[in-house]
Amino acid sequence: MTRKILDVPQIASSEITPEAVWLNRRNLIKAAAAGTLATTLPSSGFAVESPLRPLAYNQGECDACAADEALTPEEDATSYNNFYEFGTDKSDPAEHAHTMSIDPWSVQVTGLVNKPGKLNLEDLLGGFDLEERIYRFRCVEAWSMVVPWIGFPLADLLRRFEPTTDARYVAFKTLYRPAEMRGTRSFTSVIDWPYKEGLRLDEAMHPLTLMTVGLYGKTLPNQSGAPLRLIVPWKYGFKSIKSIVSIELTDKQPQTSWQQLAAQEYGFYSNVNPEVDHPRWSQRYERRLPSSLFKPNRVPTQLFNGYAEQVAGLYENMDLKKYY
Ligand code: MTE
Repeated sequence: MTRKILDVPQIASSEITPEAVWLNRRNLIKAAAAGTLATTLPSSGFAVESPLRPLAYNQGECDACAADEALTPEEDATSYNNFYEFGTDKSDPAEHAHTMSIDPWSVQVTGLVNKPGKLNLEDLLGGFDLEERIYRFRCVEAWSMVVPWIGFPLADLLRRFEPTTDARYVAFKTLYRPAEMRGTRSFTSVIDWPYKEGLRLDEAMHPLTLMTVGLYGKTLPNQSGAPLRLIVPWKYGFKSIKSIVSIELTDKQPQTSWQQLAAQEYGFYSNVNPEVDHPRWSQRYERRLPSSLFKPNRVPTQLFNGYAEQVAGLYENMDLKKYY
């Protein structure tokens, strides 16, 4: 069953956005960038020490937004997380990620670009036109959610640094600061830190690929990958790397953390595909959060997570079973 993707978002952002966000957009952006907006919005009851700032953004004209599907409640999206730097239990990130300091922050952009450089927190929050995108998000573990992310196309960022004609791939790295990340100090940790991910350049430049700074109208809480994470809605969630500090343009396919760990289970592409099972479980269905034993909320998984119309062209003539 394919679900209909509507052309126009049907959930008005105003329904899920504090009214203040719509007011005085320019001042809000300036204030957010200057760090003077320290409003902590009433949140979901778990400890997040860094204040979540309201973000000013446009509603966006997202042709592919999953606006016909119910949003996952904010509390579920921000309390059931994968962020192995803080532990492997789903509750670990919300419990422990507040130990990561995110201000100051900078993202280095290097490699095959004419203008290497860096972006700091103010550039990320105030230097791009932010928009809201409601996307389905499908984890390789077969759970999923629908989240109103706020961000800007990765293409907007990359163009500023002018990729050279030799650039073919984009490699990303997460912050690695063991003193603030208990999961990286754990004896049972299996990842070769820092967490690494990568995209082909054409995937990175695709308009659906979002550099994300917020969700549900506010800056990202730490457990969701503050202050900057990637969202690639047609790929399994592990491609959506959190708390990015490095973006490198390369001519060779970069090594990714999960490939390094188990290449036979986690490929470079990792496009959502109900026809290609994980070696240890089926990918035909997913549990849409909130989900429980008695109410599993099982829905069929869609090819490219429902974004085939927009992205299938990127993989023309490619055997999706071979390039999983
Ligand atoms: N990024 C980093 N740095 N570390 C991680 O452990 N987990 C990935 C991805 N990004 C991860 C990461 C996985 S497996 C998933 S499913 C998503 O983040 C989860 O995002 P969420 O917690 O916002 O749902």
